[in-house]
Amino acid sequence: MKSMLMIAALVASVSSVARAEEEDPFADAVEMRHGLMLQMATDLGKVGAMAKGEAPYDQAVAARAAANIAAIASVLSMDQFPAGSEYQASADSYALPAIWTAQDDFLVKIADLNTAAAGFQTAAATDVDALKAGMGALGGACSACHKAYRQPEE
Ligand code: HEC
Repeated sequence: MKSMLMIAALVASVSSVARAEEEDPFADAVEMRHGLMLQMATDLGKVGAMAKGEAPYDQAVAARAAANIAAIASVLSMDQFPAGSEYQASADSYALPAIWTAQDDFLVKIADLNTAAAGFQTAAATDVDALKAGMGALGGACSACHKAYRQPEE
């Protein structure tokens, strides 16, 4: 009897977690921006390894990574950041509320990333020295936005 009650309680708590996820209206937007960010991080990792000499310079791989980052940067907009989807209001979100209170500046940060990513496409396709020289501006565009608008994970 006791174990039946425990099972019933367990089932109830599992389905209430599922319900909470269903009721989070921002779950899809948060998942979408995480996917875009993770793809950029993967591509940045590839050119970063070449810049550090941990991977040999490969022009095709570098050019493709740079093209991916530029393409994703062009997709970023408020579409992936609906109002209300901030840290602690929406599950898995580390987006700070300043995104919406300083939205103009947030959009400037997106534009800055687009500019940096466009410049980096030329650098990455040139040679390893140009790639190295271009990394700072690109990484800087990522971290400038994260510093202002992303809650650091504990
Ligand atoms: C315009 C602002 C902005 C720019 C530019 C930006 N990010 Fe982000 N990034 C964010 C925000 C905000 C979050 C937190 C989103 C969330 O948790 O909902 C984030 C989260 C991330 C995450 C964590 C994803 C996860 O699954 O938790 C990674 C990785 C990341 N960004 C990589 C990058 C890289 C690499 C670049 C540059 C090529 C970049 N970002 C540029 C705003 C930005």
